[in-house]
Amino acid sequence: MTTDVRRIALLGATGSIGRQALEVISADPGLSVGALASGSQSLDELAAAHAVEHVQVGGDLTEILEASEPDLVLNAVVGFAGVGATLWALERGVTLALANKESLVAAGDLAVAAWKRGGGLLLPVDSEHSAVFQCLEGRATETVHSLVLTASGGPFRNRSFADLESVTVEEALAHPTWSMGPKITVDSATLANKGLELIEAHYLFGLEYERIEVVVHPSSVVHALVRFRDGAALAHLGYPDMRVPISFALTYPERRATSVPALDFTAGMTLEFEPPDLECFPLLRLAREAGGRGGTYPCAFNAANEVAVAAFLDGRIGFVEIAPLVEDALAQVDGAPARDVTELVQADEEARRLAGRRLAPV
Ligand SMILES: NC(=O)c1ccc[n+]([C@@H]2O[C@H](COP(=O)([O-])OP(=O)(O)OC[C@H]3O[C@@H](n4cnc5c(N)ncnc54)[C@H](OP(=O)(O)O)[C@@H]3O)[C@@H](O)[C@H]2O)c1
Repeated sequence: MTTDVRRIALLGATGSIGRQALEVISADPGLSVGALASGSQSLDELAAAHAVEHVQVGGDLTEILEASEPDLVLNAVVGFAGVGATLWALERGVTLALANKESLVAAGDLAVAAWKRGGGLLLPVDSEHSAVFQCLEGRATETVHSLVLTASGGPFRNRSFADLESVTVEEALAHPTWSMGPKITVDSATLANKGLELIEAHYLFGLEYERIEVVVHPSSVVHALVRFRDGAALAHLGYPDMRVPISFALTYPERRATSVPALDFTAGMTLEFEPPDLECFPLLRLAREAGGRGGTYPCAFNAANEVAVAAFLDGRIGFVEIAPLVEDALAQVDGAPARDVTELVQADEEARRLAGRRLAPV
């Protein structure tokens, strides 16, 4: 067991994952905060409470990473804004605990290449991917048949398309099982989140899209399964509490204790599974198509989705207009692979521009 205190750069410290990470870090003498970053909220209180020297609000996240030289980067920023930090850590072989799925979706090919060059650890924080990572640990790749990612189905599971036309922002933000930031909560309601996770899983585990399945599992107790070639499947179970995958990533490979209770199987737990409704929730289908086409299609999917979700949260479009806006942008981009970050940023901006064209001027 190592006695060194792990110094963490926590990016997105003011968010849902960021706050839960600070709880995990505070409870573990083996972890400390070396750097804190946010987008626009002040970090003064958090920096004082955790005696943090390196603090940055907005700006280029690689600057605080260069200055603070962390042992581990926890990227809990939301959206494409996290790409630079993900690539920075992967390129240098600095352990990356990744919550910011959008960076791996948008920059997948560049990120995998940087990861190979850097040779460091990439530990998923997304609960489904943490679950897959744990089911796969120590097993030969050729024994794996396929992955199954579970989705709660969000607040609108079993609704008809006609019902969805009138849902409000407030309803979309009321997630049945997870408490999260607003963007991912809307993504969970549209199933775009599961689409992003599908692409994230492809890059993390190097499996073709045909071998990654999504099933709806309303109670969110089984986070993911791995099927093996002999017909066996391993599942990862736990209460829906992000402190578990956060702690797993921050303390890997030690799996230190958390305050999350052990699963109680006597309290009427049900494990139901059903296929996702791709008619009502087309963003999962669009993500699979974008992933399969490769190049910068996943980047465009993510960019257009970010524009659409922001417009929905601002009350500028309705819930059912999110998917058509993304589909329309995807139909117009060229999807050519990005050879470097400059080209990736151009692809991201172009998809945002195309998605924005469908929005009425503010
Ligand atoms: N919440 C969950 O349970 C959960 C589960 C799995 C995966 N994730 C993923 O984790 C990431 C964070 O989600 P969240 O729910 O924690 O989001 P959130 O509550 O909205 O927090 C987002 C964080 O990102 C920061 N941020 C935004 N733009 C930034 C920028 N340009 N530079 C630096 N920081 C920036 C925000 O700072 P300000 O507060 O200053 O704006 C905030 O600290 C997302 O990628 C999400 O998909 C979340």
